[in-house]
Amino acid sequence: MSYTERENILKYNRQMAVTTRPRLAVTADDGKLKRKKFYLEGYNMSDYMVQLVNVTKRFGDSPAVDNISLDVRQGEFLTLLGPSGCGKTTTLRMIAGFEHPTSGDILLNGESVLGRPPFARNVNTVFQSYALFPHMTVYDNVAFGLRMKKIPGKQIRQRVLEMLRLVQLEGFEERMPDQLSGGQKQRVAIARALVNNPQVLLLDEPLGALDLKLRKQMQMELKHLQQQLGITFIYVTHDQEEALTMSDRIAVMNRGIIEQVGTPREIYEQPVSVFVAAFIGDSNILEGTVTDRTTSGTGIVVEGCRVSLSFRNGMVPGQRVYLSIRPEHMFLSVPGCVGDGPCLPGRLVDRIFAGSFVKSLVALQSGKQVTVSENGLPACCEPGDEVIVGWHPGKEVILSDAQPGDAPSQSYIAGNAGAGKCVDVGAGCRTAGAGVYR
Ligand SMILES: Nc1ncnc2c1ncn2[C@@H]1O[C@H](COP(=O)(O)OP(=O)(O)OP(=O)(O)O)[C@@H](O)[C@H]1O
Ligand SMILES: [Mg+2]
Repeated sequence: MSYTERENILKYNRQMAVTTRPRLAVTADDGKLKRKKFYLEGYNMSDYMVQLVNVTKRFGDSPAVDNISLDVRQGEFLTLLGPSGCGKTTTLRMIAGFEHPTSGDILLNGESVLGRPPFARNVNTVFQSYALFPHMTVYDNVAFGLRMKKIPGKQIRQRVLEMLRLVQLEGFEERMPDQLSGGQKQRVAIARALVNNPQVLLLDEPLGALDLKLRKQMQMELKHLQQQLGITFIYVTHDQEEALTMSDRIAVMNRGIIEQVGTPREIYEQPVSVFVAAFIGDSNILEGTVTDRTTSGTGIVVEGCRVSLSFRNGMVPGQRVYLSIRPEHMFLSVPGCVGDGPCLPGRLVDRIFAGSFVKSLVALQSGKQVTVSENGLPACCEPGDEVIVGWHPGKEVILSDAQPGDAPSQSYIAGNAGAGKCVDVGAGCRTAGAGVYR
């Protein structure tokens, strides 16, 4: 059996993964490979609704999407999150069939759809601009796709009204798009996309044009709708808060590649690159160099001051690293106090009251400014005072060799739990009080 023939059988099997149709098996009873049809008992649908396999899209010489692979599960709410121009829309358009990958494969429900036009993929898209037909009523906008499919009128009516009820637009059937608010228009666009019963709904910044309050409300509604219908949603946004609140998983994109895929919690608490740490939520990114390693700890000079952190695998003296520490994991104290955790000296620059918490801006001795977020008003100091910035041991995530905003470093260093210690402020570290922080 030739290589091509074998590849074809594998491809066929992959396509059949979504059905109960017979699959081809490669058998080797007598040492020769043969084709044989068989049925898989109780075989279910593919676990993955959408799969991107080494997908690249080039416009001219530059890749808009660069060799990405991603598996999206059935019924999952997956968000593509990243800054402007990172390739989110291009990825979505390739799944929908509006763009063709330069290389790689796209599977829907286990079946390659590369040769299929958009209308032959069971996928619908909701755009930020709504793209409603301005000369049609709400009812006609939603009914459009079903009419194109020549569904009987009675069924169309039933389905359209059901969809309008779902998006809370009952009674709006005869309105024209220009008689609707932004949120209502977006609901019509969602109803129009859902009426065809797609397996996958692609949403490209669907709430981008709405004001903050409506946006928050629609986020909840969309999430609820997705859970109710069990449809796979692939949602595009550059708003990290929106991604964190709505998604089952987030794929963080940067410059055409996927830097990390994970649950909102994983992405937030265990970023794998400086880019992800800086892009998701507020984070203090501190520069450091590994100085020494013992079985109990790792010495690192952080922003010019030496601290001892719990032992990490994979770190060698001389290695440049970045520490990502969330503001809520940091706290302030007065110079001279002896703490158990790692800490750095600095000067309190400003303090901002933000309702339930207070943000303190502290200039470290290296000149780096960090943000400390604490509940209530910290009693220890006033702007202008010398302070100590500490953090809870093990709350730092250590990342190596990438400037904030750079191409990714996948070298997340494992084992971030454990005790850390401020052992020595070193010659370059001016201390305001008598303290040596141990
Ligand atoms: N048709 C095209 N021709 C040439 N370049 C394109 C085309 N479409 C997109 N690009 C480029 O590909 C890159 C990715 O674009 P894309 O629209 O996917 O970004 P995005 O992540 O959706 O950004 P935004 O958040 O601004 O919508 C950009 O550099 C863009 O200029
Ligand atoms: Mg876009």
